[in-house]
Amino acid sequence: MKIAVIPGTNRAGALSQRLGEVVAACYAELGHEVDLFDLKTMGPEFLEPTAYKEQPPAVTALVERFVAADGVHFIVPEYNGSFPGVVKLLIDMLPYPAGLDKRPCAYIGLAAGQFQGLRAVEALQGVTGYRMAYQYPRRVFIGNSFKQFDEAGLSDEDLASRVTAQCVGFAEFITEVGGKAAKTLE
Ligand SMILES: Cc1cc2nc3c(=O)[nH]c(=O)nc-3n(C[C@H](O)[C@H](O)[C@H](O)COP(=O)(O)O)c2cc1C
Repeated sequence: MKIAVIPGTNRAGALSQRLGEVVAACYAELGHEVDLFDLKTMGPEFLEPTAYKEQPPAVTALVERFVAADGVHFIVPEYNGSFPGVVKLLIDMLPYPAGLDKRPCAYIGLAAGQFQGLRAVEALQGVTGYRMAYQYPRRVFIGNSFKQFDEAGLSDEDLASRVTAQCVGFAEFITEVGGKAAKTLE
């Protein structure tokens, strides 16, 4: 199966991107096809006022990658008590209802602070749930983000094993409930 891993920020040097690499490696190890997004590639075309109606090719290209995924694993950094605006912009560019309808989604919250990304994940789930995504119930929350990584990935073994268990479980969830979301823009 094909899983899109989406670190939810365009911040240079973001730890979410690093965590995305860990999650992508986990799916690859499990034998799945992975598409690791990098939202730094979302250029000024995404802000063109006409982009909603006449999508620039760069926008369509990213949207097509999203829609091609059997499941989407969001890494959700907490910015100002919510998820970053660049993720909402991506979601606003998705076709309706094909973008999220019946598409399995999983979430990891990542924050510097004590709320561990809970607020950010729940805010994003409010949006994806409204758009009828299939929510994978096992979520992972990571606080104190700047102390959680070493060169190999997540430094805390228990945390690393919870992320692995989430990936294994999400792939099973996709097998059980997936396959109903649109896979192309037509
Ligand atoms: C614009 C901005 C707002 C942030 N707001 C919060 C916040 O409300 N709560 C928090 O715990 N951390 C906050 N952070 C810190 C991030 O959660 C932290 O950098 C974490 O590693 C995830 O973001 P990253 O992927 O950009 O590294 C903020 C960071 C930025 C850049």
